[in-house]
Amino acid sequence: MQRPPHPAAIPEPSNPELPRHVGIIMDGNGRWARGRHLPRVAGHRSGVRAIRPVMESCHQAGVHILTLYAFSTENWSRPRHEVTALMQLFGDTLDSEVSQMHAEGIQIRTIGDRDQLSPRLQAKVGRAEELTSANTRAILNVAINYGGRNEIVSAVRDLAERGIDLTTLTTETLGGALYTSGLPDPDLIIRTAGEMRISNFMLWQSAYAEIYVTPTLWPDFGPHEIAGALAAYARRDRRFGAVPEPPAMLEEALRAPAGL
Ligand code: IPE
Ligand code: IPE
Ligand code: MG
Repeated sequence: MQRPPHPAAIPEPSNPELPRHVGIIMDGNGRWARGRHLPRVAGHRSGVRAIRPVMESCHQAGVHILTLYAFSTENWSRPRHEVTALMQLFGDTLDSEVSQMHAEGIQIRTIGDRDQLSPRLQAKVGRAEELTSANTRAILNVAINYGGRNEIVSAVRDLAERGIDLTTLTTETLGGALYTSGLPDPDLIIRTAGEMRISNFMLWQSAYAEIYVTPTLWPDFGPHEIAGALAAYARRDRRFGAVPEPPAMLEEALRAPAGL
């Protein structure tokens, strides 16, 4: 299977048993808070604190592209005060983290429909992306107001608006019009908090991703769990639907009539 090129200048993983791109469905903040008799928002705050050690341990392990699912297109249907608190938290986190990430050479990207975010948050996201766009040490890609279905629909609309003949549409053309254009597909998708579902995350890009689900709640997820996920990934047999050609001698033996 052909893989799209790695983004310019972002280092390839230090060994071929490592994923080039890891996506994480950061789930379980609410359960983490409930277990401590705290409001759900306290779980989200704790969830934000879990990000940096995970990012650093990925990088130290040799994985340089990380996508974090922070807010789905379906998450708007949460109680209004929770949505407001989450949006506030995204803005505050950008305020407090971007300059350090920039100093560390991290390129910040986002995927999702930005139009529904407040103009203030849109501006913060835009500034963070612009400031860090030339950084090449690692990519932190944050999925905010992201939904895989919306992404595909908006890509098709985009192509139609650009006058592309949709009757000749190819997987490459569509893939190149997605929010993730220029990023390799995720090789590994980790979901915390135990649910065995994809919840509209990277529907197109996850076609051949390895899935790793852990019961650990996102605020408790850290370098130790990353190491476990990467070790599990290294043991997977990724076949991409193919069956390798048997060695010629073996093939002859298999073809020999039975009983001889
Ligand atoms: C994930 O944690 C964070 C977001 C979806 C924003 P949840 O808030 O979904 O936590 P649970 O699933 O209720 O425990
Ligand atoms: C998935 O978690 C979305 C994010 C982690 C941002 P959800 O908690 O929204 O997913 P469901 O409701 O369990 O499918
Ligand atoms: Mg959840």
